[in-house]
Amino acid sequence: MNLIDKHPSTIVHGEDPFNAEPTLGRLGRSFLTPGEFFYARNHASAPEVDPERYRLVVSGLVGESLELSLDDVRGFAKSEVTAVLQCAGNRRDELIEVASMPGETPWKAGAIGNARWAGTPLREVLLAAGIGDEARHVAFVGLDEVEGESGGFNYGGSIPTEKALGPEVLLAYEMNGEPLAPGHGFPLRVVVPGYIGARSVKWVSRIELRRTPSDNHYQANEYRLLPPGAGTNDLSGGFALGETPVNAVICEPESGETLPMGSVTVRGYATAGGGRRIEWVDVSADGGKSWVQAELVEGRDEPWAWSLWEASLDLEQGKHEIVVRAFDSSAVTQPSTAAEVWNPGGYANNSWHRVGVNVG
Ligand code: MTE
Repeated sequence: MNLIDKHPSTIVHGEDPFNAEPTLGRLGRSFLTPGEFFYARNHASAPEVDPERYRLVVSGLVGESLELSLDDVRGFAKSEVTAVLQCAGNRRDELIEVASMPGETPWKAGAIGNARWAGTPLREVLLAAGIGDEARHVAFVGLDEVEGESGGFNYGGSIPTEKALGPEVLLAYEMNGEPLAPGHGFPLRVVVPGYIGARSVKWVSRIELRRTPSDNHYQANEYRLLPPGAGTNDLSGGFALGETPVNAVICEPESGETLPMGSVTVRGYATAGGGRRIEWVDVSADGGKSWVQAELVEGRDEPWAWSLWEASLDLEQGKHEIVVRAFDSSAVTQPSTAAEVWNPGGYANNSWHRVGVNVG
């Protein structure tokens, strides 16, 4: 993929592998994120896949290994889900302000998007292969080849079998009613709603049922939450990230904006992982001393989608810090500062999102 597929306003972190995110003002405007504003997160160049020659192999702890063409995959009943996809590194730039992370992409709060995905439920393919009694994890391997220290390898990751059997987990071939774009995994990608984006493997070509999680680098060594004191090579105290935490972000106004005095409309997104719901969103105009409840305008009835919210604030002349926090259906809310959630890989930052504006 390259810039041609994305809007000119896109913030590009790297050309190849292509890593890019939209500006927040654009992102917050629509419930379904159009392709040109959907972030891209890649660890290698996007492979070009010939759909005629494409095969999906299902193997490991199964009753019978399968080798499926694209038509075979499409032969199962089609299912749809509106789901948010969010990179575990979303909002890393705020963690980097706390302490540096050399070599890590400084994602702002746009490494997220909400789409209508359509495809074959993964569970149907797994049931067709027959799930072995000892299978506890379902591993995915993509066709893109990452350059590692000791040679090339394919991107991969895994999810627990229990999650893989959820009807929401898809082998998706459409995004927002159109065939998947090459950069988003054409012809087939996994979509794991409620989990960090890293498990939604693009260009998926192999599915393996296993006793243990995938030993792919991106499951075993990266996308792990490590204790603050650990080095990135010391994985002993960490765990592989799965479900995302409750989070909320202000998309409008954007940081540094100058606004006229009076009523200001504040808009943004909120997400709850693991199928939990966003119950309410609070907005503060005084850095978190007092709060007003925002209106949840879209998404509340879709367990895997984000919720878009809106609030009006009356702002006097001067500088203001607008802050947002959300509560999910398990009564969990967000920590107030990025320092509280700082971790060596820079993942899962769900601290209060803060935007500084000038009024007058
Ligand atoms: N799948 C493959 N094959 N290669 C990748 O680099 N990146 C993962 C995931 N699946 C990746 C992948 C990560 S970290 C994220 S956040 C999402 O894809 C990003 O999906 P998108 O580029 O379609 O937005």
